[in-house]
Amino acid sequence: MADMQRVPCRVIVTRSLPDPLPARLRAEGTAWINLEPRTLSGDEILSAAEQISADVLLVMAMDRIDGALIARLPKSVCIIATLSVGHDHIDLDAARARGIAVLSTPDILSDAVADMGMLLALGAARRAREGMQLLYGCSWTGWSPTQLLGKEVSFARMGIFGMGRIGRALARRAQHGFGMEIHYHNRSPLSPQLEDGATFHATLDGLLDVSDFFVVAAPSTPATKARLDAAAFARLPTGAVVVNVSRGDLIDDAALIAALRSGHVAAAGLDVFNNEPAIDPDYLTLPNVFLQPHQGSSTTRTRVRMGELLLDSIHAVRAAEAVSNRLV
Ligand code: DGY
Repeated sequence: MADMQRVPCRVIVTRSLPDPLPARLRAEGTAWINLEPRTLSGDEILSAAEQISADVLLVMAMDRIDGALIARLPKSVCIIATLSVGHDHIDLDAARARGIAVLSTPDILSDAVADMGMLLALGAARRAREGMQLLYGCSWTGWSPTQLLGKEVSFARMGIFGMGRIGRALARRAQHGFGMEIHYHNRSPLSPQLEDGATFHATLDGLLDVSDFFVVAAPSTPATKARLDAAAFARLPTGAVVVNVSRGDLIDDAALIAALRSGHVAAAGLDVFNNEPAIDPDYLTLPNVFLQPHQGSSTTRTRVRMGELLLDSIHAVRAAEAVSNRLV
């Protein structure tokens, strides 16, 4: 694809992208890029698309590309490309019905997100938030044998809900880096090669029962929405640590907060939330919660590669070539 003549395209980009992506977009066609640090409304996306007769919408996970918006898109739009592996924000059926291709960024971000999963597990288990508070609040009185005793990550048992590419990248780190024992739940077991010694649980409940560290890596779907509720958290071993690198809506916040307050869940490491960025304020007051602002794939290398993958596959789709990151 790199050497072939590319047909210039007209792209709407809903948030500014890291260099060198904007320059590449402009070199390869017409790009309307939202430079404001906020998510656009549906009307703003439509008006920008009409203004340049866009062929492509390059959107983010925070943009709600629902059936109503897709129905109102100008006829010129033939591709929706999302800078994310998650695609719960796009109505794929509506796109299919209008003959619009949908592209995402699988694979390329698995390592960065898995790194974030380990950061969250470590930060939550080793009480990083409280440690930082001692220092930044100038209240540290010096080393003590009982200071901020945490939960040991090495050699503990980790349960992964959703053993896709991100789940497996996390399992590799946890198993081969930290000696952890890996358990997982998926709709079906993986091949022995992909399983790499991990233990399959046919039910989520079975996984919850054995998860001293419980990691949410399954996609957001109608079936997984609020699947982690009070009954689910009650199944975890007392003192478990909960980590979420997927989507906030898999977790019932009130149930997790109650479990964190009671101590049944010792700590949580969360990168994703319901109603981002307006997260449940109780998370901010709990000392046993280690938070990040949806940063899983946020490394320069990964974000640039995600953008490049989308731009390459946009050109490929326009040239009627098959691409593996096409959802519709
Ligand atoms: C993803 O890739 O789905 C991230 O969560 C957001 O970009």
